[in-house]
Amino acid sequence: MIKGVGIDIIEVERVAQKVEQEDQHFKNMIFTKNEQSYCDRSEGVPAEHYAGKYAAKEAFFKAIGTGWRGKIKWTDVEILNDQLGKPEITLHNVAKEWMEGQCQSNSNQGNIIVSISHLKSMATAVVIIEIETS
Ligand SMILES: CC(C)(COP(=O)(O)OP(=O)(O)OC[C@H]1O[C@@H](n2cnc3c(N)ncnc32)[C@H](O)[C@@H]1OP(=O)(O)O)[C@@H](O)C(=O)NCCC(=O)NCCS
Repeated sequence: MIKGVGIDIIEVERVAQKVEQEDQHFKNMIFTKNEQSYCDRSEGVPAEHYAGKYAAKEAFFKAIGTGWRGKIKWTDVEILNDQLGKPEITLHNVAKEWMEGQCQSNSNQGNIIVSISHLKSMATAVVIIEIETS
């Protein structure tokens, strides 16, 4: 069953202003250390990667139906890439508890699908939350 879908689009420049000014407070509030390592690596344009992950977090908040309301931290929704570059969402803390609450029994599994795209000026992401029902 599809529990929710979320989509977001953001201007890369908005994120670039923060990350290129080395606004460490902003970075640490929004992005985990692992996400920062990925975005700051030498491949690609860091601000585009940051904007893509930011859009994916916003899309997740839309998919759960509440938007960002402060209970779930931005860093509780972590987006990292596999060996082929495919992004994957891992939930922590309150976000993880929310997902567990959606799975009515231990036998039910949740699955989160994310896709990200970015250009020089814009980044966008889509998130789909699936819940296996018995
Ligand atoms: C992965 C690929 C689809 C990305 O498309 P793109 O138009 O270059 O770039 P986009 O801005 O649309 O998308 C970039 C995002 O795609 C996602 N992505 C990367 N690899 C992916 C994969 N294997 N599966 C799903 N998503 C992937 C990432 O989230 C990436 O953003 P991030 O690194 O900031 O997280 C494309 O580069 C591709 O097919 N690569 C295959 C290998 C290759 O390089 N082939 C060319 C030489 S043969």
